[in-house]
Formats: sequence, structure tokens, C-alpha cells
Amino acid sequence: AEDGYDLWLRYRPLPAGIQARDRAQAAALVYDVDRHDQSIIKAGEEIERALAGMLGAQVPNYSQSVVPGAILLGTADEPRIKALNLPLGSLGSEGYVIRSATIDGKAVTVIAANSGVGVLYGSFALIERLQRGLPIDGLDISAAPKLKLRLLDHWDNLDRTVERGYAGQSIWDWWKLPDFKSPRYTDYARANASIGINGAVLNNVNAKADSLTAPYIVKAAALADVFRPYGIKVYLSARWSAPIELGHLKTADPLDPAVATWWKAKADEIYAAIPDFGGFLVKANSEGQPGPQDYHRSHADGANMLAAAVKPHGGVIMWRAFVYAQENPEDRAKQAYDDFKALDGRFADNVIVQVKNGAIDFQPREPFHPLFGAMPGTPLMMEFQITKEYLGMATHLVYLGPLYEEALQADTWAHGKGSTVAKVIDGSLDHHALTGMAGVANIGSDRDWAGSTFNQANWFVFGRMAWNPDASAKTVAGEWSELTFGPNPQVTSTVVDMMTTSREAVVNYMEPLGLAHMMGTGHHYGPAPWVHELARPEWNPVYYHKADATGIGFDRTKTGSNAVAQYAPHVAAMFADPKTTPERNLLWFHHVGWDYPMASGRTLWEELAAHYTLGVSQVADMHGKWRSIQPLIDPERYAKTDIFLSIQQREAQWWRDACLAYFASVSGRPLPAGEAPPA
Ligand code: GCU
Repeated sequence: AEDGYDLWLRYRPLPAGIQARDRAQAAALVYDVDRHDQSIIKAGEEIERALAGMLGAQVPNYSQSVVPGAILLGTADEPRIKALNLPLGSLGSEGYVIRSATIDGKAVTVIAANSGVGVLYGSFALIERLQRGLPIDGLDISAAPKLKLRLLDHWDNLDRTVERGYAGQSIWDWWKLPDFKSPRYTDYARANASIGINGAVLNNVNAKADSLTAPYIVKAAALADVFRPYGIKVYLSARWSAPIELGHLKTADPLDPAVATWWKAKADEIYAAIPDFGGFLVKANSEGQPGPQDYHRSHADGANMLAAAVKPHGGVIMWRAFVYAQENPEDRAKQAYDDFKALDGRFADNVIVQVKNGAIDFQPREPFHPLFGAMPGTPLMMEFQITKEYLGMATHLVYLGPLYEEALQADTWAHGKGSTVAKVIDGSLDHHALTGMAGVANIGSDRDWAGSTFNQANWFVFGRMAWNPDASAKTVAGEWSELTFGPNPQVTSTVVDMMTTSREAVVNYMEPLGLAHMMGTGHHYGPAPWVHELARPEWNPVYYHKADATGIGFDRTKTGSNAVAQYAPHVAAMFADPKTTPERNLLWFHHVGWDYPMASGRTLWEELAAHYTLGVSQVADMHGKWRSIQPLIDPERYAKTDIFLSIQQREAQWWRDACLAYFASVSGRPLPAGEAPPA
């Protein structure tokens, strides 16, 4: 049965005609097993497994001689590869070349790289072509990742609950580690390597100090051993106050020498067990977490102290800029910039500041975070959420590719037109070598890993965009569909249609026109725009929409919080004026009257209602499309998505009805003509 466990690595039999062609082109595997490069061995195993599944044939495996139709795997110094003079020089340690070549008069396919991991990535790329039914002759492909750190952040707790996780328990079975290494860890590593992910932060950013104790270091080391051949490093979230909690120090002040010594010893201990440990991720002075500001030190003081501890081992510190504090009455959207902008250039060279795509928190739509482009002297990495905390959790079909693409292609204007967020994070804009992207994982112990079939696409597209931040969401959707449902053009075009509409649909039925954070507090599921009574003002939805009898929206211009001033002048000017603010961001930046005239000729109130209603019909449309391809999808995965779409349909209606009823009540207006009353 198709339970989704195989993700996009299904390797089901190809149609007979394609099999016949591929059998000739992928007739044998040649790789030098005697060299014991574990990544090349994994690459060979993966190709064998893929060919066995897709071609129904066990492929002969030679360590030496080349035969016609052979696939030759090797690094740049392999003599036959060396002789081909492939352009490996510019591809770094993770890039690869796939070349159709002639060796000893025999037509072969060469997968070459500067490292075993590069060969593994190239092997997955070749397998993908086969899965998609594409021929593998005449190939001349070179590829290399544009970002250095391509990480999943697991918000997994040590008790196996997952913060904001909707796919079951954590896949890390801490109780049985380090002895029992579940085969699932290997499958996790295969899936990640297939999309170029090269690191995993194992534990929640709201970290417990326990994860840094000796027993957990051994467990993390066991995972690192499984992941290493797949090019994946492990990282840990560090709890700032660990020196107090574990080391019994009186303070965690970063400038106290005893604190620095404690962290140095801790880093040494970790590196003794995990020589290629990646480093620490830190959430400090945010949402109640301890941090250097508790000692009147800055984020840079804190990050640099930790950076010194891991530096001798080649580690990095990923310091999160997701900060806002209860004591701070300032617009929450401004607080990260306020804290970090002044620290630009003051971070050690193995620190990278990790910034969420938007200034609030992973909403269905946010304008890009004003820190992008504003810290030229500091490497910034992107933090996206893959798990759908605010976007319908497990069941709603929302493909996040368009959300990622919108954030990455946003123009910061930091150095004039074309200064996209993608160029900030790939290091090209300000010449940084340390670059990266993190995605908050949506992975759990569910059979299908991600809680739904379509949620797998979000893991997939995250990997693709971490490899290439300029990748197209739509192209990736097509690739994922072919791998997941088979390369049937009708399925692909239908599924791609559904996926590309889905993000706009969720924006429409939840938070159109720049609205944000109207979800029920705590769980973040379902509408609650009326909530106003929570002690922390910025946890109340009313804080964000500010709807009253006269109008709606958060004034972030000069007459309000002036958050617009955090953007580069060109962007600030655009967002300062409701006339030049894109309508999709209007209520994020402006408080406007209910009769405010929109481009469509409708009033704001009419437009808002129309968006909510459109969102509901877009879900109906997605559902209809899914039904239209029922005969082409296996029953198990068909039925699950079908039921989930029914849930989404009902809940889109709930969102629309609840929000419109609420806004009608505060505005004192009837529903616009033609709008059906709440069901
Ligand atoms: C959100 C989320 C929290 C999480 C936080 C973070 O606020 O709801 O669960 O801890 O982001 O990113 O640190």
C-alpha cells in the first residue's frame, strides 16, 4: 500500500518502454568500493536500490571495469574521471557533474565531484531524472549549492513531544539511543541528502539544558554517525543558562571568564564525541528564554562568547533574531531590528544571525523582515517554518513554495534595485562566505513523516530553495508531483495547479490584505480575531488588526509605530503610503477606513469580504481538481487527501464566517451585498 513512507524516493516500476531504454543506459554501476568513501558507498547503494525498483533489475556492480551503459561514480582524482577534465574546480565540496562520456570506447554516465557527498548528491540527481522518466543520455549537468548551511531545525523535546509538530512524536527515540539506531534515521538521512539538506538541529530552540549532558551527547553522537555518510551534521540548541543549571555557576554572564570556560569545556566534550559537530543554535532573550541581556550584555556579547568555544573545532553559532520582550511596549514587529541593527559588524566570524522571513511569526503572509539588507556587516541566514503552525497544521493543503519564493525574491533595495533577500542570504550582496537557510521541520513519527502527503512537498521545496534560493516554486512543485505521484502529465498539471493556488487560498480565508495573527491563542488553530483579554498585549489578535468602528489595520507609518522606517528608503517610502503599498500588505502597514477605495473599485469592507469568500471557493476548487484525478492516484493516498480537503473546506468556511461576523460587529456594517451570511 502507498502509505507515504517512501516520500519522493518511491522507486516504483517505470512503464515498460522506459524500462527498456533505461536498462541500456543504466546497465551497470562502477565505483571504487575499495576506497571506503562511505558517501560513495551510500550513493552506490541508493542507485542500486533505485534501479532495482524502477527497472525491476538487479544491476551488476563492478568495482573496476567499465562496460557500455555503466554509471561511473568517483571523485576528481579517480584516474578515468581525471582524464575527462570535468569542470569540477568551481563546484566546491558539495557540487557535482553528471556527464555522458565515452570511456574506453564505451558510452557511460559519469557522476563526479570533489567529495563523496558531492557524488551522493549527483547520484540523487540522476535517480531523479530516471524517476521522472527523463532520458539519461547526452547529459552535461553541473550543480552546486548556493548556501552553505542547509538545515532542518527540529523543535523536538527530549520527551518526544514536538513543539508545533503535527506529525506524531519526535523521530528521535532518545530512550533507545545510542544503542538502537532506528532504520528510520537512515531513511531520514537519505531523504535529506536527496534534496541537499546538510544539517539537523536535533532539539527544540526552547531548549532544555539536559540535551548538553553526557548521556545526550552520546545519543547525539549516535545520530551523527548515521548521518555522516549522507553529508549531514548534527547541531544542538543550547540553553543559555546551562552553566548555572548544569555547571552550578552563579551566573551565565557571557563576560564572566568562568562562564566562557564552562562553555569551552562543554564544546570540547561534544567535539570529542562528535568531531564534525556543526555548532549551536540559540534562542536568547525571547519569549521568556534566558540570555545575555539578563546580564545587561548584548546579543553579540553572548554569541561571540559561544563562538569562541566552538571556533577551534570549526563550529558555528546560529544566533536567532526572533526576539521580543514582555517589558517592551514597542510594536512587536520592530523589536528584532531595534535589538540587532546596532550590533551589525560586531559578531565573530563564525556567527550567523538567523532571521525569520517576516517580522512577526510565520504568518500566511508577512512582508519580508526589515533586518534583511540592514546588516551588511553580518551574515544573515533565513529561517522558514516548514511545519504549518499558523497555516492549518497537518490537514490544510498549503504548499509553502510560493511563500518562500515571495520572501526570497522580495527586494530590500539595500544596495539599490535588485538587492533581493536571496542575494542577502546567499552572501553575494555583501560578500559573506558563511551563508544558510534553516527550516523548522514538519517531521514526526507518522508513517508519512509530515502529517499529510502534501506536507511532504514543503520539506522538499525547502531543501530545493536552500540549495538554490532562486529556484521557482512552481517548477519544484512539478518535480515533486512527478516524484510523488509518478510522471503523468495530467496528474502533474492538476497537482501543480492545486499547489500554486493553495497559498493564496489560505491567505484569503485566514488573513487577507495584510492581516496577521488572528489565530486562537496558544494552539494557533482556527479564527479568534476577537481575543483581547490576554495579559501580554502582543498575544491578543486585536493587537494586530486593530479593527474598530472607523476602520482596520496596524498603522506602522509615522503616525503609528513607524516600523516602515526600518526598511531601506525606497521600500520605506513605498510602504509609508497606502496608495503605493501592495494591497496584499495594506493592513499590515496601514489603518484605513472601512470605505477605503480599493483598486477593484470596491470598498475595503467589500474587498475583505470578497477575499474571504474567494478563499473558501479556492479550497472547493482544489478539492474538485483532486477528485478529477482520482483514477490516477492510489486509493490510500487519494482518500487521505480527499478527507483532509473536506476538513479544510469546512474550516475555510469557519474562518470566513467567524472573521466576517466579527468584523461586521465591530464595524457596525452589514455584510456587503451578495455575501452569504455566516452558515
Ligand atoms: C513561535 C512559536 C513558538 C516558538 C517560537 C520561536 O512563537 O509559537 O512555539 O517557540 O515561535 O520561534 O522561538
